[in-house]
Amino acid sequence: MRITLAFLAALACGPAIAAPPPAIEKPEMAIAYRQSVYRMIRWNFAPMGDMVRGKRAWDGAAFAQHASRVAWLAQQLEEGYPVGSDRGAITDAKPEIWANWDDFSSKLGNLKRESQALADTAAKGDRAAMEAGFGKLGGTCKACHDEYKAD
Ligand code: HEC
Repeated sequence: MRITLAFLAALACGPAIAAPPPAIEKPEMAIAYRQSVYRMIRWNFAPMGDMVRGKRAWDGAAFAQHASRVAWLAQQLEEGYPVGSDRGAITDAKPEIWANWDDFSSKLGNLKRESQALADTAAKGDRAAMEAGFGKLGGTCKACHDEYKAD
């Protein structure tokens, strides 16, 4: 039954049309998952910010490693937002996420794009470009939090 429904949904929507992942039995697992991914993102994002702000000695190799981890983690966020996971555990994710999925998904796309761009730039080691790219990446966090994260 589940397979049939998933198959029909795939036929009806196709992968190109933005839709949140289907509901799961235990939404609390999705909430824990996405929060964990964000915490891992922050773990890697913070030291880059400290380097950019001069609070930590510049280390281009460490910066590049953090940037590539954020890019990898960003790819894995969307699956943490199945339908119905606006509740089930303590969460700061606003219900508007699912009501405005196209917009949320495009903000998630900006995070994926800018984090990958930063990882690519950092691999080349140009410090000024890395600092600029970091600023752009930070902008994608804020744009989404302002709209979809309760505080
Ligand atoms: C597309 C939207 C979106 C983008 C982009 C985004 N976030 Fe978030 N973030 C959220 C939402 C929604 C939550 C709340 C998740 C929850 O509580 O279920 C969150 C939660 C968090 C948390 C708290 C996790 C916890 O529960 O402890 C951190 C830290 C975080 N984000 C960091 C970042 C950083 C850093 C970036 C950018 C590199 C970023 N986020 C980009 C939407 C986004």
